[in-house]
Amino acid sequence: MRKNIVAGNWKMNKTLQEGVALAKELKDALSGVKANCEVIVAPPFIHLASVADAVKGSVVKVAAQNCSDKESGAYTGEVSPAMVVSTGASYVILGHSERRSYYGETNAVVKAKVDAAIGNGLNPIVCVGEVLEERENGKFFDVVSAQVKESLFHLDASAFGKVVIAYEPVWAIGTGKTATAEQAQEMHAFIRNLIAEKYGSEVAENTSILYGGSCKPSNAKELFANKDVDGGLIGGASLKAADFMGIITAF
Ligand code: PGA
Repeated sequence: MRKNIVAGNWKMNKTLQEGVALAKELKDALSGVKANCEVIVAPPFIHLASVADAVKGSVVKVAAQNCSDKESGAYTGEVSPAMVVSTGASYVILGHSERRSYYGETNAVVKAKVDAAIGNGLNPIVCVGEVLEERENGKFFDVVSAQVKESLFHLDASAFGKVVIAYEPVWAIGTGKTATAEQAQEMHAFIRNLIAEKYGSEVAENTSILYGGSCKPSNAKELFANKDVDGGLIGGASLKAADFMGIITAF
């Protein structure tokens, strides 16, 4: 059966020392608590090894927020999937809307990164989601369908089994505006159905689909109660251990 997951995307926040302190605080807060979900933190690249070290011995897993589609070589400023693995991280967030809109990542780029990540043993958390205009003009199913198909459906079933999908309506990210539980459930069921059509219902039932966009302790329970919502990708509310714990314990 699929996993419930709560993942914290720190984005470009926290110095190394602040990040390690937050990771330790989270580890302490989780000791003695039986989390009913997998817990992941995604700090900036340069914190990965230190954060992986700080959470050692706890249930917390570590993710990068991005990685290169290249293996190694003359790609100044890039970080390869093998480098991410060497820090102790086991996941990588790919295709986040901020990568798509500020750094020009297309579905084709995300596809190449997914291959590189899986090829190096990382589990990709692939983000999809429509912008406000696409929500308002009714194009949201088409947009999300294209994102899922063009970045993931070249995989065989065994490789697809490593993928976690995060549905993040762009209009809900960092805006305080959350999708309603019904909007989230509707899109998650739509995505699961796409997966079932391509890979069969067993693969679809085993795929974790997370919701992201202004998820916080006060709305997590209502969102996670939906049958196709398997957890959250959390931005702002992952930057304070108490808030993040409030979301983890919503399961
Ligand atoms: P938010 O960000 O929780 O701050 O809205 C979510 C995300 O971008 O992953």
